[in-house]
Amino acid sequence: MSSLPPPDLRLVLVTDLMGQTEPCGCTSRPLGGLDLVAGMVREARKDAPTLAFAAGHLHFEGASIPEPMQAQARFAAETTERAISATPFDGTFIAAPRSEIERAFLEEPTAVARFGDGEPHLYEVGGRKVLVVGVEQTPPAALARVLAEAPARDVAIVLHVGPRRSAAEIAAVPGVDFVLLAGLDEEAVTPPRARGKAHLLTAGRQGQRLLLLDLYLREGETFEDLSPATAEERKQELTQSAAELEARLEVWTREGRHAAEDLAAQRARLEAMRLEIASIAPPSEVKGRAFVARHVEIDPEAARAREVAELMRAHDQRVNAHNREAFKDSRPIPVDEGEPTYVGSQVCASCHAQAHAWWEKTPHGRAYSTLVLRHKEFNLACVGCHVTGYGKPGGATVTWNLDGALVNVGCEQCHGPGSAHASAGPGQKRETIVRDPAEGVCLNCHNHEHSDQFDFETYRARLLVPGHGH
Ligand code: HEC
Ligand code: HEC
Ligand code: HEC
Ligand code: HEC
Repeated sequence: MSSLPPPDLRLVLVTDLMGQTEPCGCTSRPLGGLDLVAGMVREARKDAPTLAFAAGHLHFEGASIPEPMQAQARFAAETTERAISATPFDGTFIAAPRSEIERAFLEEPTAVARFGDGEPHLYEVGGRKVLVVGVEQTPPAALARVLAEAPARDVAIVLHVGPRRSAAEIAAVPGVDFVLLAGLDEEAVTPPRARGKAHLLTAGRQGQRLLLLDLYLREGETFEDLSPATAEERKQELTQSAAELEARLEVWTREGRHAAEDLAAQRARLEAMRLEIASIAPPSEVKGRAFVARHVEIDPEAARAREVAELMRAHDQRVNAHNREAFKDSRPIPVDEGEPTYVGSQVCASCHAQAHAWWEKTPHGRAYSTLVLRHKEFNLACVGCHVTGYGKPGGATVTWNLDGALVNVGCEQCHGPGSAHASAGPGQKRETIVRDPAEGVCLNCHNHEHSDQFDFETYRARLLVPGHGH
């Protein structure tokens, strides 16, 4: 870290939690979790006078929530709201609801102040005055009036829900110092962008990152950007330009068509670029008004807020208990006449003992206990990929699994339903089974969101062992 003095004021921003209480845990580096968000916001508050805000789509993921998911989604919204109160945030600016259940939810009482669209809020922290305005639909002209009429302040922040295009318009409104963007469709977390006198910043989504914005409220009209990411970006741009110029110089020198002094001038330019690249270093002093913005990943090693972790456990148990009861009569789609159905991996064991003994000890053979350990086995967002034949004729449902025979990612997930194959009499053909599952079979579950490292050849090779496919 650079050796800058402590800031006069720190802003912490979390955007678009989307009712994601924690990451699923499937990927190589799961980021996020409301307990970690709370822990890190508390940690961030220790170093300087701080204001923390949450903005954007906080409680629900999207506009269309399938009917069976609605109870679960609502529980997640409640858990998120409790975690927001416990974190603690100084205020929230919530995007307009995208569904009826979200609308109803947002009408209920809340413990944390929610900003209305275009309403100014003045905070006094560490002897500084901070004006915060949430903007979704408020037009730039109206925002300009709000800012003109608002009391004197040291800095003005706009929390904006909307596309980058409208953020740029807001940044142009006189008096705006920072536009903090939420509600973006993309995951991209971008370095600060200067727009006129203001700066545009993002914070990420699904509670995977938070934005720390350290402010030095000294003399000066505009804020100088001392963020490491900005310096890094400048360095990369310059490095690329220098490489391009160097390549061109080589060509020009070889061609010999250019005047010696032109070439010398270009060489001097290249040298200047190199000097600038070498001189780019983390700033160590603050000369005037300045800021340092950083995105901090919410990683599993951070300190968790214990009471929020308890809220999350209670949430998982509530979802589990609810779904187990609500879907207790859920049965698979019937199997067409004459078609094979699922029988479970244990049936295969009688003839493929070695394959079964291997499979039981692989992640596929334990995939259901992964969920059970976390009280997620009836969670509709999880179960489908950790059982066999989910949603298929004769396959598992959220509660139905042939008395446990179809839990875990069984043989038939890859080789297809095996009733006909397993019960063929002596001398009968056993071919109603898929020998070599195609990549598409894997991708149903090993998609980018849940298996970031997936590579068909590499993963398939891990399945081929003595006794199974070897
Ligand atoms: C009663 C014994 C028996 C049972 C039970 C059984 N298999 Fe087989 N399986 C065989 C035999 C024998 C073969 C050798 C292929 C053949 O000669 O038809 C075979 C072959 C296979 C093959 C390779 C097919 C090919 O085209 O080479 C797969 C895959 C397979 N079994 C999967 C399963 C699965 C999955 C189950 C459980 C649903 C299962 N088997 C249950 C006896 C059985
Ligand atoms: C029904 C969903 C599903 C399908 C289809 C599926 N997998 Fe998996 N796979 C999983 C789950 C879930 C895990 C992790 C289980 C756990 O640890 O709880 C996993 C784990 C694995 C692992 C272990 C990864 C590791 O880090 O050791 C390999 C290898 C693998 N799968 C390969 C495949 C291949 C190859 C295919 C296709 C032929 C396939 N899987 C199809 C769900 C699936
Ligand atoms: C789209 C399918 C899919 C869904 C939905 C899904 N998983 Fe997974 N999960 C996988 C796959 C595939 C893997 C293995 C990834 C790998 O190793 O590449 C996995 C791995 C895991 C692991 C890591 C297991 C280990 O031992 O390393 C955990 C934990 C897990 N899942 C939990 C969950 C939870 C909790 C949910 C619901 C919030 C969920 N999964 C939803 C497909 C899924
Ligand atoms: C994740 C997918 C997956 C799962 C789960 C799986 N297999 Fe396989 N299996 C494969 C692949 C891939 C091959 C290699 C096919 C080839 O080489 O043609 C294979 C090959 C086989 C073969 C034919 C080769 C041989 O070893 O005789 C049999 C039999 C078989 N599997 C049985 C089983 C049984 C029984 C289970 C469950 C205990 C099981 N498989 C679970 C993917 C899977």
